Amino acid sequence: MHKTEKKARKIIFVTGNEGKFREVRDILAARGYEVIQNTDGYPELQEEELEPIAAYGALWAAGKLGMPVMVDDSGLFINALNGFPGPYSAFVEKNLGNKRVLKIMEDENDRSAVFKSVIGYCEPGAEPLTFTGTVEGKIAFEELGTGGFGYDPIFDYNGMTFGELSDVEKNKVSHRRRALDKFLEWLDYED
Ligand code: IMP
Repeated sequence: MHKTEKKARKIIFVTGNEGKFREVRDILAARGYEVIQNTDGYPELQEEELEPIAAYGALWAAGKLGMPVMVDDSGLFINALNGFPGPYSAFVEKNLGNKRVLKIMEDENDRSAVFKSVIGYCEPGAEPLTFTGTVEGKIAFEELGTGGFGYDPIFDYNGMTFGELSDVEKNKVSHRRRALDKFLEWLDYED
């Protein structure tokens, strides 16, 4: 890595997910970075862990675009379901949705779950880096709130779902915020 490359205050974020983009844009804007969305996409590896998926996506997109890029691979890991849907979170959200997930969880006493976000970052010709953030919560018994996106209305964090929080409140404690804090620490250190 060359120090000059890291001084750029603009970051290309490859994602088609508007919710992720909005959150990342707001969190990084507060730290002086402009986030530019790119919706070209990247191949998603089928892996049990999110880190290799994010690393490969960032590597691939940096090579394709010829510039430094970041990606975000995330998922909801429900303990009673042995971590399901985990890396299949996007597929499950699209094909089952929150109501069906709640149905599967109907008789489960252990409601504990973890949201995980892995930021992948790569500069052309360099190895990809990953930064992981997690937040622990519980699967609610019903969908609550209209904020956020995806699984937010069924993820209870300290008595309120992420769907009931404003973006500002969610961004203070979310898995994405925690992953971005690590990414920013690295970026600032390298500056
Ligand atoms: P992927 O990262 O594109 O593989 O998709 C992850 C899946 O988890 C998608 O269905 C997202 O909508 C969902 N997801 C990721 N982050 C969040 C979040 O912060 N809140 C709620 N759902 C999320």
